[in-house]
Amino acid sequence: MDHRQAGLHALAAAIDGCRQCDLARHRTRPVPGEGPADARIVLVGEAPGAREDRTGRPFVGPAGRFLDRLLAGQGLRRDEMFLTSCVKCRPPGNRTPHRVELETCTAAWLMPQLRLINPEVTVLCGRTAVRALLCRPLRLADHHGRFRRQGGRTFFITYHPAAAMRFARVADAMRTDIARLAGHIR
Ligand code: URA
Repeated sequence: MDHRQAGLHALAAAIDGCRQCDLARHRTRPVPGEGPADARIVLVGEAPGAREDRTGRPFVGPAGRFLDRLLAGQGLRRDEMFLTSCVKCRPPGNRTPHRVELETCTAAWLMPQLRLINPEVTVLCGRTAVRALLCRPLRLADHHGRFRRQGGRTFFITYHPAAAMRFARVADAMRTDIARLAGHIR
């Protein structure tokens, strides 16, 4: 196993024991994320949902299946990316993570994951991921489909698949965004 894969395993083990915020009290299992340590793309969602909480795996519920189809439509596969979320534990009732939960979890776990993988592109899916990693509340309607350089990283802004699942207009926009991402990575 190379040092980056070992590093990701060590982070996952540490996340397993994390009690830094209140979300740890409500979770069944934390969801650290999964994918190759040398992934060119890291895709970041908001938080695990019910199925992710039961299985410990990212994007395995309805939004994940929708995401898989969107990616496949552009010749991308989930197993060539590292998939994760801003917070690693499911918020009760799927509420949006609070600011302190986002800040704590991002600093403790997501940033170290990004430093280890050092991907070419970090895909921010939805408002929460944009807020957590770009530290500003950009309007998705104005900024989706765009690359943004910040802090030495390249980010790509798009919608969350759970929103795309519910609104055809968002699904169309997200499909176009993913096509742009695929064109960039080829
Ligand atoms: N939504 C997310 O943001 N992450 C998951 O793992 C599942 C749904």
